[in-house]
Amino acid sequence: MDIHRLTDRLGGLAFGGDYNPEQWDAEVWKQDDELMRLAKVNLATVGVFSWALLEPEEGRYDFAWLDAHLDRLHLNGVAVDLATPTASPPPWFTLAHPDALAVRPDGLRLTHGSRDTYCLAAPAYRQAAARIAGALAERYGDHPALALWHVHNEYATLCWCDHTAAAFRVWLRDRHGDLDALNHAWGTAFWSQHYTAWEQILPPRATQWHHNPGQALDFSRFWSDQTLAAYREQRDAIRARSDRPVTTNLMLPGYQNLDLWAFGREVDLVSVNHYPGAPGVDAAAQAAFDADRARSFAGGAPWLLMESGTNTVYAGGRTLAKEPGDVLRHSLGHIARGSEGALFFQWRQSKAGAEQWHSAMVPHAGPDSRTFREVTALGESLARLGELAGSTVRAEVAVLHDPDAWWAMNVDGLPSAELDYFTALRRAHRALWDAGATVDFAHPGQSLAGYRLVLAPALFLLTDASAENLRHYVAGGGTLLVQHFSGVVDEHLHSRLGGYPAAPLREALGIRVEEYRPLAEGERITLSDGSTATVWSESLRTEGAEAVAAYTHGMLAGRPALTRHPFGTGHGWYLSSRLDDSGYAGLVGRLLTEAGVTAGLPGLPPGVEAVTRHAPDGRRWHLLISHRDEAVPLPEPGRDLLTDRFLSELPPGGCAVLRAH
Ligand code: GLA
Repeated sequence: MDIHRLTDRLGGLAFGGDYNPEQWDAEVWKQDDELMRLAKVNLATVGVFSWALLEPEEGRYDFAWLDAHLDRLHLNGVAVDLATPTASPPPWFTLAHPDALAVRPDGLRLTHGSRDTYCLAAPAYRQAAARIAGALAERYGDHPALALWHVHNEYATLCWCDHTAAAFRVWLRDRHGDLDALNHAWGTAFWSQHYTAWEQILPPRATQWHHNPGQALDFSRFWSDQTLAAYREQRDAIRARSDRPVTTNLMLPGYQNLDLWAFGREVDLVSVNHYPGAPGVDAAAQAAFDADRARSFAGGAPWLLMESGTNTVYAGGRTLAKEPGDVLRHSLGHIARGSEGALFFQWRQSKAGAEQWHSAMVPHAGPDSRTFREVTALGESLARLGELAGSTVRAEVAVLHDPDAWWAMNVDGLPSAELDYFTALRRAHRALWDAGATVDFAHPGQSLAGYRLVLAPALFLLTDASAENLRHYVAGGGTLLVQHFSGVVDEHLHSRLGGYPAAPLREALGIRVEEYRPLAEGERITLSDGSTATVWSESLRTEGAEAVAAYTHGMLAGRPALTRHPFGTGHGWYLSSRLDDSGYAGLVGRLLTEAGVTAGLPGLPPGVEAVTRHAPDGRRWHLLISHRDEAVPLPEPGRDLLTDRFLSELPPGGCAVLRAH
């Protein structure tokens, strides 16, 4: 079962959004039908938060209203992405099962009145969720409108209650086998933390000072597995009754709560939500970052942008408006990188309720509005891109992304508060995006053979197997850049002894790090090549590598800062400090050139995104997005599929989709 079934069913790329008709009346539904036709909407996500209406009391279902909407949408030519409503249990549920409400680390039990008020480890919640998923699948499993199942909404909540504690212990027994192994892994010999019975072990609740790092890391791993198990229960309840593909809309937040590689393997189709946190070019860079991650979690297969905002940029406590043209640019930023369409939250802006100020395809002002006109234009353009369905993206560069390393960097007591996994990951991607490269993310344990260049911005935790994999990659001709504070601990967070990074990787890099020297807050150092750096420095020596740049300050003066090591038929680079943007861009540019990375469509200036989608039969399309203020001549003029017009130059801020010659 795969995404081809969705685009086959839709006859092209998906366009539409969350549809919550229960907030409106028959008059509005009629207008919805007309406007959806006008905008060429072909997919509506229904039922995401409808639990209270679908199951007004425990075990009694009311499907009549949903029957009517599904039939109406079907008649109108709109397929349905049917959600299970389990992200928002009704008030009756939490009153009947108060033990299923989430508890915070400080012991406070939450109450209902918002959404996502449940504990994923609570048996009553899990049973109720699987039950309603099964009931929906029973009712609608072969409904002609049904194109896709949408389990839950943005799995993201955590809990520290007694149900969680019990489930955590089961998970720990499975992982460690016995208490001796757990005590060893967690280093409980320190601070008198030795456990003599499983019942003594708790989730990392509020405590006096640093949590035990092993406990914190294992809890993150456990919770991700717990969430995946909750997803699987619903998915399996659906699969037993329906043959339509199943997804869950993943968030790609700046914090790490799930192993998204694992989720990618369990869904029929990866789908993600995207809300930028900055306006302008930064928003486009964020779209690219999330889209490249989504495609990578999908293993390179087609995936879907399930939600974005027509007019939403979340920035510092404000919802900023998007600029004219952003809806197309941001949607195309995702489609260029493999999304099989563009969907929005939500179709019609709510008149009341918790998200009434969140933008929509039909705003409060109604169809006579800039937003709806842009939405309609987008629908028309996407309807012309049907031939792209099923095509994929190829990248010669990868950024290593490991949830374990991310979780590991969240533990207490690291040597600098400025060590941040997400920032490092984003900077690496941004430098590559600025340079015009098409980028995959890759797990450090997977085969990297297809990549000319691999960046490892923050591999604090590195297993022996992954270290060996990286060594093998360089030996076989790859170019690898490893950045500071990488390969420092193993999978138990135990420090590597005898010098960093982990031995097999050290061999490929031709260096040995002896000591870490975090820089003071605000301290900026200059390297021998004139570049500047902050946050971090390291005392290292070369063991075969050449020093490309050296430190010029204090005790490290004259010692290598940036190194390059020919190894096997490849090159291992090591950067021991945090270069400022221009120095980092210069380094990334040099690496791209030395590794022989080619542009998808040569001849475009900086500030124009160009990504190529490839069909299995050899057809290719260039998707172009300009962030420039002046027109840009096209290296390959041609018919733009978005407008069905011949194009020889890209207008300021313009987009184009061209068949490749
Ligand atoms: C998320 C959710 C939606 C909605 C939007 C907008 O992506 O999935 O339900 O809340 O954000 O805030």
